Amino acid sequence: MTDTVLETENLAVTYTGDRRVEAVKGVDLAFPENRLTAIIGPSGCGKSTYLKALDRLHDIQPNVEITGEVYLRGEPVYDTDEPAPEIRKQVGYVPQEPTALPLSIYENVAYGLRIHGLFDSKDDLDELVERHLRKVNLFEEVSDRLDAPAAGLSTGQIQRLCLARSLAVEPDVLLCDEVTSALDPISAENVEETLAELAEEYTIVMVTHSMDQAKRLADEVVFLYLGEVVETNDVRSFFEDPQHERTKRFVSGPTDDEYAVSDAT
Ligand SMILES: Nc1ncnc2c1ncn2[C@@H]1O[C@H](COP(=O)(O)OP(=O)(O)OP(=O)(O)O)[C@@H](O)[C@H]1O
Ligand SMILES: [Mg+2]
Repeated sequence: MTDTVLETENLAVTYTGDRRVEAVKGVDLAFPENRLTAIIGPSGCGKSTYLKALDRLHDIQPNVEITGEVYLRGEPVYDTDEPAPEIRKQVGYVPQEPTALPLSIYENVAYGLRIHGLFDSKDDLDELVERHLRKVNLFEEVSDRLDAPAAGLSTGQIQRLCLARSLAVEPDVLLCDEVTSALDPISAENVEETLAELAEEYTIVMVTHSMDQAKRLADEVVFLYLGEVVETNDVRSFFEDPQHERTKRFVSGPTDDEYAVSDAT
């Protein structure tokens, strides 16, 4: 039996600004160790909101109400004295829009290692930076300019750098929100190959718009609709034998427009 690394119990997220939006409505899910789970669903169905809640990334936003609980290896993520950065060290988050820190390529990867004091010597730090750049298949491309500003990299390279930065602090889980959608097809393919390799040794929760990407990468698939889980299953059963009518319609290829969730809903 596979261990559950991360789990949510009745997790609900409501935006309480000008309008009240119940973006995530009581979601129970368990993410098994060393599996890649893809969360799919139409635009506006709460995928990003849910993913951010796993990492307490709404903490810094006003007007967000969160109820229920997230458990990381059985320990509550919200009802705890641990500060959010401690949680985020264990649960890495890679956003859709890759953003390099205004530092060198080397220092982008070293960043979390420095903050958390996770190295013994300069040699050790050098080794860790190289190892994680290799893990995301970026080292060969940048080895001659590690001290150059990261801003000079291509978007696809920056996305892989962000992955390396997240991985450097040895998180238990990696959360990826549509990490290939801002990329050109070739960069997207590179990042996807990297994710496929990372999926061998990490627990990954990935939001994707692409059913094909979910088929290629995922072990488990979750279909979220209007903030609720419609169906979750292993990737094969999910696509070959969907249980719910709504899943059937979604996987048989409606356009996103047809499914677009209006903000009024
Ligand atoms: N900061 C916010 N304030 C108010 N409402 C928000 C905020 N962020 C998202 N929402 C609303 O919450 C709902 C879910 O949004 P969310 O971004 O989680 O969807 P999504 O499934 O990630 O969509 P997409 O596929 O387009 O990225 C939407 O109705 C959205 O308008
Ligand atoms: Mg989103």
